[in-house]
Amino acid sequence: MEKKIRWGILSTANIARKAMIPALKESTMAEVSAVASRDEAKARAFADDLGIPTAYGDYEALLADPEIDAIYNPLPNHLHKAWTIQAAEAGKHILCEKPLALNIEDCQAMIAAAKANGVQLMEAFMYRHHPRITAARQMLREDAVGELRTIETAFTFKLEDLTNIRYQPEMGGGALLDVGCYCVNITRLMAGREPVAVQARAHWASTGVDDQLTGILDFGDGLLAHFDCAINQEDRQRCLLAGSEGYLELPLTFNMGMIETLIHEEREFGAGRVHNYPAVNMYRLLAEDFMGAIAGEAPAFPIEDALGNMRTLQALLASARQNGQPVAP
Ligand SMILES: NC(=O)c1ccc[n+]([C@@H]2O[C@H](COP(=O)([O-])OP(=O)(O)OC[C@H]3O[C@@H](n4cnc5c(N)ncnc54)[C@H](OP(=O)(O)O)[C@@H]3O)[C@@H](O)[C@H]2O)c1
Repeated sequence: MEKKIRWGILSTANIARKAMIPALKESTMAEVSAVASRDEAKARAFADDLGIPTAYGDYEALLADPEIDAIYNPLPNHLHKAWTIQAAEAGKHILCEKPLALNIEDCQAMIAAAKANGVQLMEAFMYRHHPRITAARQMLREDAVGELRTIETAFTFKLEDLTNIRYQPEMGGGALLDVGCYCVNITRLMAGREPVAVQARAHWASTGVDDQLTGILDFGDGLLAHFDCAINQEDRQRCLLAGSEGYLELPLTFNMGMIETLIHEEREFGAGRVHNYPAVNMYRLLAEDFMGAIAGEAPAFPIEDALGNMRTLQALLASARQNGQPVAP
């Protein structure tokens, strides 16, 4: 790529500071040019801390900057839609945090705005850009487990601050949208198709969001998946892909930081093999896939995948609200 992509960061979000900006700085394809905050002093301090040249005291000014090519949108979930559409209308490519939006209609509107304005839109599921995920998919294709029958996943962590965005129902909080979206995403990815029916039971926090949810996805044809997600318990991340002849297990599945990871492959019980994958910055791989798409390459995961994910998430929430009644996504 001849010209670096000039990035604007929409807000001073934690995830931007901790993960995405360091990843962009690591990439030779990117330049972090500006940040915007609702508070100018906050934007300035953030920019100074992270070595970003330009700071704006409102989001509109960032979108109006002609020197910006791409926007990273890590706003609270309920603001993903409005600011992604505004960014698209300003001619900017958008890497938007997960979940893309709060419902299918909003996701469709965002995708339509990106298409109408000729810009790229990607949902920031970094985990699926890890080479270990590519390897697991390849192993499934090569019949490592026989017929895939059960997918078991989990993503939990403990959040005690009830003022956090994840505890606010009006902001699209809750365990399912925050971390369950990863379980649903990897399950659909490994299944290679959409579920025909889902069920879920949840525990509801005092603020009204699901702080714990367990779900079942039925893909038909003998493939069942179950997962649990929570914001009220110790860190746990897991993916198990079990088939008629064996299983693959991917511990620390989604967000393991810069450490070596593995796939445990078991065919004849007790005679397992371990495959190792070196530490890699998944956020950089995600951003580079996105920048490749801006340059005209096919993205690894087309944005339409976000529709399947959201349809399933909505059905799971609907089921949880009806005490586990089956819902067709
Ligand atoms: N892919 C990943 O690994 C990953 C990890 C964590 C989070 N996320 C996603 O990233 C997004 C942000 O998460 P986060 O934990 O980084 O959130 P956060 O630290 O709370 O940041 C959200 C930012 O949004 C801005 N904002 C605008 N309106 C707001 C409002 N009404 N209330 C609160 N903040 C508002 C604030 O920036 P200003 O004050 O500067 O305007 C705030 O710093 C979420 O969509 C989350 O799902 C993704």
